[in-house]
Amino acid sequence: MLFKKQDKTQSESSEGAEVKKSAHKGNSHYLSAKESREIAKSNARAMREYEKKKRVKHVDESVYTCKMQDENNIVEFDDLHTYFFTDAGVAKAVDGVTFSIPKGATVGVVGESGCGKSVTSLSLMQLVQAPQGQIVGGSIRFNMGDKAYDIAKMPINEMRKIRGKQIAMIFQEPMTSLNPVFRIGYQLDEMVLLHTGCTKEEAKAHSIEMLKLVGIAAPERVYSCYPHELSGGMRQRVMIAIALSCDPRLIIADEPTTALDVTIQAQILDLLREIKQKIDGSIMLITHDLGVIAEMADYVVVMYAGRVIETGTTEEIFHNPLHPYTIGLQKSKPVVKRKVDRLYNIPGQVPNPIDMPNFCYFKDRCDKCIDKCNGEYPHFVQVSPTHRVSCYLYEEKGAEGGSNE
Ligand SMILES: Nc1ncnc2c1ncn2[C@@H]1O[C@H](COP(=O)(O)OP(=O)(O)O)[C@@H](O)[C@H]1O
Ligand code: SF4
Ligand SMILES: [Mg+2]
Repeated sequence: MLFKKQDKTQSESSEGAEVKKSAHKGNSHYLSAKESREIAKSNARAMREYEKKKRVKHVDESVYTCKMQDENNIVEFDDLHTYFFTDAGVAKAVDGVTFSIPKGATVGVVGESGCGKSVTSLSLMQLVQAPQGQIVGGSIRFNMGDKAYDIAKMPINEMRKIRGKQIAMIFQEPMTSLNPVFRIGYQLDEMVLLHTGCTKEEAKAHSIEMLKLVGIAAPERVYSCYPHELSGGMRQRVMIAIALSCDPRLIIADEPTTALDVTIQAQILDLLREIKQKIDGSIMLITHDLGVIAEMADYVVVMYAGRVIETGTTEEIFHNPLHPYTIGLQKSKPVVKRKVDRLYNIPGQVPNPIDMPNFCYFKDRCDKCIDKCNGEYPHFVQVSPTHRVSCYLYEEKGAEGGSNE
């Protein structure tokens, strides 16, 4: 096996690259030509092995079939590690992520830019930029109804059957996700034709139906338009129509409203809410906007530097935030009736993903540090059946602390 669990997490080769880098005296950011060569060599070796594994053609289904821990979940991320083998060393973009998405629920994934939200969702779609990006450990259990698959172990050709059909994704910027040289109709039909085997006429009728469903007023006209002929809001509606066209069990919406102005944002969020009820599926909603989470999500997952640091129901995360980072996030959002001279910002920076410390990743920015925080990375503390936090402050106390005032 290429990988060992939890922070002994890297393949030997990537470990080697890191040890050599940190051994350089004086300046930890400096890489000599020799060190660069060694990193490149060990990266190439590791990437080759991961790619080889993924491209095996005839893999027995039993290799990637698994059992859900809870049948009521649609997805279970279990200690997922996704790394990027870069020229500067191994970037631990997702470093041991564990959380579940219940059937029929909206789970909001929140955290500042670069904390690994998109890489977590791309891992679920097996769309991490390869060969640099690789799932190096952990599982992603996906509930297919009658059976469950571990997506982290699935070969590429099998994954193609699930992607788009069972799990669909709506990206942040529709202009870069839609192909500018094909008409909207072609791009919509393509999805249906690929996954359902219907005729061209049936695909067209279904596509127009989908455009109607997402609230496009003249679906026949839009069907024959090119993406540049539509407004940003319409393009995002088209993306949602494409995502919905095969009745997916799970929709991943990665910052679906960030590129839109506020009025259109509200419309798109309303649309997502309506659609979730219609398809009776689940939504993984990725955003850095706490307002969107408060409006849309049933459960919240807070990520920081590639790890989950707190999870709970939306009520728990907003009314009883526990982790100092979650409390900081809440403080930094503007509140209509609260007057402040300056909005709060969390001091300091996220640690370098290539050189993560072996203590709490938030320690250098935390104003609530205690002696224990110098120890190893804090484990999760379960403070209610749905609320858990990874912070030493709650190890003995339980759920009392935490307020965003
Ligand atoms: N293609 C890539 N090559 C190298 N590193 C990457 C790449 N994509 C993402 N990363 C790393 O993964 C981290 C998390 O990225 P991402 O999941 O996109 O963050 P966000 O939470 O903003 O969606 C980044 O900080 C970066 O270090
Ligand atoms: S474990 Fe310590 S350093 Fe980390 S967030 Fe909690 S109090 Fe702060
Ligand atoms: Mg992102």
